[in-house]
Amino acid sequence: MRLILMGPPGAGKGTQARYVADHFGVPAISTGDIFRANVSQGTPLGVEAKRYMDAGEYVPDEVTNLMVRNRIDEDDAAPGFLLDGYPRTLAQVTELDGMIEFTGHRLDAVVVLTVDSEELVQRLLQRAQTDGRADDTEDVIRRRQEIYLEQTEPLIGVYRERGILVEVDGMGEVDDVTARIFAALDEIPQS
Ligand code: AP5
Repeated sequence: MRLILMGPPGAGKGTQARYVADHFGVPAISTGDIFRANVSQGTPLGVEAKRYMDAGEYVPDEVTNLMVRNRIDEDDAAPGFLLDGYPRTLAQVTELDGMIEFTGHRLDAVVVLTVDSEELVQRLLQRAQTDGRADDTEDVIRRRQEIYLEQTEPLIGVYRERGILVEVDGMGEVDDVTARIFAALDEIPQS
């Protein structure tokens, strides 16, 4: 399976990604997690990414695309993968298309989690108290939401036109959301 998990900040992408990836036996690849790992290790990539992440802005496409290309080339992603948080721009969609086409495979489905905007903010403010993520302040959360609406939400239409969009209600208990995702994806023929 080659899957994308999309949704606004706080929709539950990271939470659900691990269950979905386990279910299909593929790695969950989170661009946010890879950036954060680089930030904490102080790598040049981390130093560059941090200034965008802390402001709630997207890391430039060329940086992100190269990072994903390298990750997808790793052996564990040969049978498939679940992308959490990539692509987020139209340029990233085009780049990913090229990466997948090069391997002779296709994208099976794009799952979009939908969650009320106030619930999103509440989830992230709550996480701020427990995890202390640098981008979980109220101002930065609002900026992340704006950027999502401007740059990433339009991707939903692109994938809908391709007939591979799966919209899943992301409200409610984590287990219930997982069950909805499985029910929707189990209908999809695997490549
Ligand atoms: P990233 O880490 O992907 O952040 P995000 O998109 O803002 O998403 P979050 O991690 O905040 O939310 P999520 O949807 O994963 O929800 P989660 O499961 O964590 O990216 C961070 C930054 O990296 C970006 O802002 C950007 O700068 C950069 N970046 C990343 N990808 C990029 C790209 N492709 N291009 C350019 N830049 C990029 O859940 C959130 C909270 O809610 C958790 O506390 C969780 O426990 C809780 N929760 C989850 N589900 C439920 C539920 N059902 N009920 C109650 N609480 C729940």
